[in-house]
Amino acid sequence: MARAIQISAFGGPEVLQGVDLPVGEPGPGQVRIRHHACGLNYIDVYQRTGLYQNPLPLVLGMEGAGIVEAVGEGVAHLQPGDRAAYAAATPGAYSEARVMPAAQVVQLPDGIDFETGAAMMLKGLTAQYLLKRTLPVEGLQPGDWVLWHAAAGGVGLIACQWARALGLRLIGTAGGEAKCRLALEHGAAAMIDYTREDFVARVRDITGGRGVKVVYDSVGRDTFEGSLACLRPFGLLASFGNSSGPVPPFAIGSLGPKGSLYVTRATLFTHIATRERTQEMADELFDVVASGEVKIFIGQHWPLQDVAQAHRALEARRTTGSTVLLP
Ligand SMILES: NC(=O)c1ccc[n+]([C@@H]2O[C@H](COP(=O)([O-])OP(=O)(O)OC[C@H]3O[C@@H](n4cnc5c(N)ncnc54)[C@H](OP(=O)(O)O)[C@@H]3O)[C@@H](O)[C@H]2O)c1
Repeated sequence: MARAIQISAFGGPEVLQGVDLPVGEPGPGQVRIRHHACGLNYIDVYQRTGLYQNPLPLVLGMEGAGIVEAVGEGVAHLQPGDRAAYAAATPGAYSEARVMPAAQVVQLPDGIDFETGAAMMLKGLTAQYLLKRTLPVEGLQPGDWVLWHAAAGGVGLIACQWARALGLRLIGTAGGEAKCRLALEHGAAAMIDYTREDFVARVRDITGGRGVKVVYDSVGRDTFEGSLACLRPFGLLASFGNSSGPVPPFAIGSLGPKGSLYVTRATLFTHIATRERTQEMADELFDVVASGEVKIFIGQHWPLQDVAQAHRALEARRTTGSTVLLP
């Protein structure tokens, strides 16, 4: 048996309930992992509210780190006793232990502790595929401007540093002066407090009227139109989240007069669909963390049993960087 946090109905943080569940043995292609730490992600909120629907009851949580306890038939890359971490396509990380597909679990390098592992996998792999594989037709070269919304958040602070390492000039947005300062300390070239300033006008200003090549937009409803207005001709809007609500349907015809723009809705789970690709992406992430180019900033911890408080803080925009839950 393992303690876990489960929902039996979609709703507010009050639907998160502690339960004891059987864990069982891993089947073919699966592992059993005992968590030392789990990551909090905004997708957990979408799954809790039902914006993203899964069958109920459901143990939430998409990111974790711990020790492999048992491996099923056909699993060659992990052994019992290995330190491991993952970003999973299937929820279940809000638990002391779980059985899950092995394909998305990788060995955690010795130099990375469990809390850091749980804080960086889903968010770091997301920053990786966005900055390295979600690119405008002309590609991104050192010196190019990009715009990244919610730059002081979990994915955001990793992206600020990774963009700097790639030589990109990242303009970030964030709510409030303290968050703007934090993102600047993590490598953003310029910051805009979009709760006080018109970010479209400021982006035009900062880029000398030219606009940016890519906008990475996880805020969704509140920023979508403004993000399009920040792009230079042939620019790309990479929409990857809905923290303010989903982007409403829009007229594709409007992209022409705005400069033959491109729009994509990207998700990590397409990128980590195979074990090989997951390992490749994780190796790149481990390299930038090992080199010190990207430091994982854990802004807050909660005991897993208090996860409802963590959800409230995340939704109220009171967190910075990554949040770790301790089982
Ligand atoms: N598609 C993918 O592959 C993928 C993968 C990972 C994450 N994501 C998305 O990336 C985003 C960041 O994820 P995260 O876990 O690192 O979260 P986070 O950025 O740490 O937290 C979300 C942030 O969004 C901003 N925000 C703006 N408007 C908001 C509103 N109305 N309500 C709540 N927050 C609002 C807040 O920052 P400010 O106060 O600074 O505005 C808040 O701190 C989320 O939208 C998530 O769904 C997508």
